[in-house]
Amino acid sequence: MNGAEWWTERAGLAGTVAIITGGAGGLGESISLDLAANGVQVALVDRDEEAVATITAELQRQGADAIVHTGDAREPEVLDALFDAAAQRWGRLDTLVNVVGGTFRAPFSEQGPRAWDALIRTNLTHVLHASSRAIPAMRAGGRGGSIINITTIEGYRAAPNFAVYSAAKAAVAHFARTLAVELAPDGIRVNSVAPDLTPTPNMLSIGGSGDGPHPMLDPLNATVSIPMGRVGIPRDISNVVVFLASGLSSYITGSTLHPDGGTLASSGWFNWPGEGFANTLPASVLAMLHGNAPA
Ligand SMILES: NC(=O)c1ccc[n+]([C@@H]2O[C@H](COP(=O)([O-])OP(=O)(O)OC[C@H]3O[C@@H](n4cnc5c(N)ncnc54)[C@H](O)[C@@H]3O)[C@@H](O)[C@H]2O)c1
Repeated sequence: MNGAEWWTERAGLAGTVAIITGGAGGLGESISLDLAANGVQVALVDRDEEAVATITAELQRQGADAIVHTGDAREPEVLDALFDAAAQRWGRLDTLVNVVGGTFRAPFSEQGPRAWDALIRTNLTHVLHASSRAIPAMRAGGRGGSIINITTIEGYRAAPNFAVYSAAKAAVAHFARTLAVELAPDGIRVNSVAPDLTPTPNMLSIGGSGDGPHPMLDPLNATVSIPMGRVGIPRDISNVVVFLASGLSSYITGSTLHPDGGTLASSGWFNWPGEGFANTLPASVLAMLHGNAPA
């Protein structure tokens, strides 16, 4: 058996069915295309019409068997329509990937109940709804299944100015842990994937200064703040999703995988140029800051 045959047999993805929310743009695009490249029949929904048109053309070009809907995954009837269409076309469900999520920068003290509700609805509620649709469909197949939630590093550390987002994402990961245990007897696995900085158009719209390149994209930023010295690319995340959808992760459930270049592990240790790793400001940086401080 050669490597490709080994992968195909162990992964067991060809001919399976996956539903992906937010599957046309950003990380979702990479996830949908990588699953389809492995022979997975994908059904996705996305609210971005331009991204939907682009991925529809790409999936057609690849000859993939796919369902692409335009809509807001926070609306239960939009999810229902997608699950119904997949059931009608393929009569099975093996994988659910909940990609939809998002936030904005604001101190908690400046937010009110409307903002909290919006953040919880965008990051938690639709995960419950999609999971509640996926479970009976996976059970009916009797082949188990894999539910994968895209959370964030901010669910594992404090996230100043993103308090409700980070709480909602932490809730998703904890929901996944409990669900993993409840569904383990059915062979349905539930896991989370927690990226850190992985530039996508929408992600870069949070926190830029408006002029010039986004500071997060400055290579020096990555050198200092990310142990592996580079920001993530969508493929870093979709590789992990393909693994969790596949038979290669057959005994992993209730877990979170962290494709973040080491930032969760480093927790405040920065790799200062000329100084090396330190979890406090090195003397050279302190001197520079003092030198620049207003008199
Ligand atoms: N990119 C990062 O650096 C990063 C880091 C940590 C976590 N995440 C998480 O990964 C996920 C994807 O992030 P992204 O950067 O690709 O963001 P994104 O906003 O580009 O989202 C991916 C896709 O989802 C679609 N989408 C968003 N809200 C939707 C909705 N309500 N209904 C239907 N489609 C919707 C978007 O149109 C887009 O095509 C999010 O849950 C985010 O919190 C991203």
